[in-house]
Amino acid sequence: MGASTYEYRGLEKEITPPEGRLGVLLPGMGAVSSTLIAGVHLVSAGLAHPLGSVTQMARIRLGKRDNPSYPLIREFVPLADLKDLVFGGWDIFPDNCYQSALTCGVIDKTTLQAVKEDLEAIKPWPAVFDHSFVKKLSGPNVKQAASKMELAEQVMRDIEDFKRRKGLDRLVMCWCGSTEAYQDVNTHPAFQTIESLEDALKENAAVIPPSMIYAYAAISMGIPYANGSPNLSADVPALVALAAQNRVPIAGKDFKTGQTLIKTIIAPGLKARMLGLSGWFSSNILGNRDGEVLDDPQSFRSKEVTKGSVLDSILQGDLYPELYGDFYHKIRIEYYPPRGDAKEGWDNIDIRGWLDQPMQLKIDFLCRDSILAAPVALDVILFLDLARRAGMSGIQEWLSFYFKSPMCRPDLTPVNDLFAQDKKLRNTLRIIRGEEVIDHSGLDYYEDAD
Ligand SMILES: NC(=O)c1ccc[n+]([C@@H]2O[C@H](COP(=O)([O-])OP(=O)(O)OC[C@H]3O[C@@H](n4cnc5c(N)ncnc54)[C@H](O)[C@@H]3O)[C@@H](O)[C@H]2O)c1
Repeated sequence: MGASTYEYRGLEKEITPPEGRLGVLLPGMGAVSSTLIAGVHLVSAGLAHPLGSVTQMARIRLGKRDNPSYPLIREFVPLADLKDLVFGGWDIFPDNCYQSALTCGVIDKTTLQAVKEDLEAIKPWPAVFDHSFVKKLSGPNVKQAASKMELAEQVMRDIEDFKRRKGLDRLVMCWCGSTEAYQDVNTHPAFQTIESLEDALKENAAVIPPSMIYAYAAISMGIPYANGSPNLSADVPALVALAAQNRVPIAGKDFKTGQTLIKTIIAPGLKARMLGLSGWFSSNILGNRDGEVLDDPQSFRSKEVTKGSVLDSILQGDLYPELYGDFYHKIRIEYYPPRGDAKEGWDNIDIRGWLDQPMQLKIDFLCRDSILAAPVALDVILFLDLARRAGMSGIQEWLSFYFKSPMCRPDLTPVNDLFAQDKKLRNTLRIIRGEEVIDHSGLDYYEDAD
């Protein structure tokens, strides 16, 4: 066995098999959720292929290149079967999942017919909602309570009822609700310890957003929690501590789907070739409800922050001042209703080569926002369930692959390079199954190792 694997010995996990039904709890039942749920039912019925999903489509190389094997990831690690997923969720609008899928308009009506009954049966529970965090929306399906702690307790009761009624064995929660207003407050005293957060919930502190109330409810109940939006949600010391205390895996923030996905594919290539960057202008038009919410400057600010830090951490301007010390990075998101979910993202990238000579790169990505997001949500849900059964807890940095602003230990720099994230994910799977890590050096094929 090579020296590189030595330090990973002992990290192999005993993984409980995924027996029984997995409840998937979705705060927010809009475009991403309804596309995810419809897709899982269509794929389970053999009516569609789960493209874009690593857990369903990808294979993983094991062993050396002169004698490799390539099992499917879902056979290499024991993942829940799609047929065992049972969905439930909350929304401020009372529409069932079929109505919501029609309103969002991501999947056409003819295709949806095949799973209409399954979707109609999913009706959102009343939401924990605070208009001050999502200024562009208001809806009638909302919980009332004397304090935010009581709201959290109501969410816990919804979860317990759902678990009992559906005979569920395990649960995972994944926030697919709207982007909340930006708050630069993770250093706020209320968020520093479990006790301070619980006191603040009881005292109804205005600083606590709804997404944090759901996260608190899930983590308190030992349920893995993922955050698909840029919201603060579980990304505060108090909830990271609660996750560690309750042995709960957590991951976030903000699904990496359209433009940021492309950014984290292109930027590592430019850097690998030591091409300089003068400016990167990213502009988007989208017309779904997410776009409408982001039309509010405070919600947009949350998005801008998760999207913005990606280039800095990949390009490391402090280490390469001549190349990346002073590039101009601008991000625009424009709400444009005619486009619905069919987003268009333009990137103009001004780069510099040999002798500082300028060049340009233009990318026009005509993408389908929720078509890209649904498989990401599915993978995160299945991997968090795996992590829980493998006894892994706290921040799951190996799931960085899926997020615009990956959560990691506060003293570490997040990894945003998609290819580094891919290796991190695959090597983590190899490690927990006791397989050799693959570092791609390849020197051992040509030189005798000691
Ligand atoms: N669509 C994508 O490709 C994509 C990519 C990355 C991140 N995201 C993020 O995922 C989230 C969902 O995106 P979407 O496109 O499904 O948006 P959407 O507007 O279609 O759906 C969000 C739903 O959440 C509901 N909601 C808002 N606040 C709520 C609360 N407190 N409790 C329960 N429900 C609540 C809204 O009523 C809405 O139905 C957004 O935060 C978005 O920024 C989406």
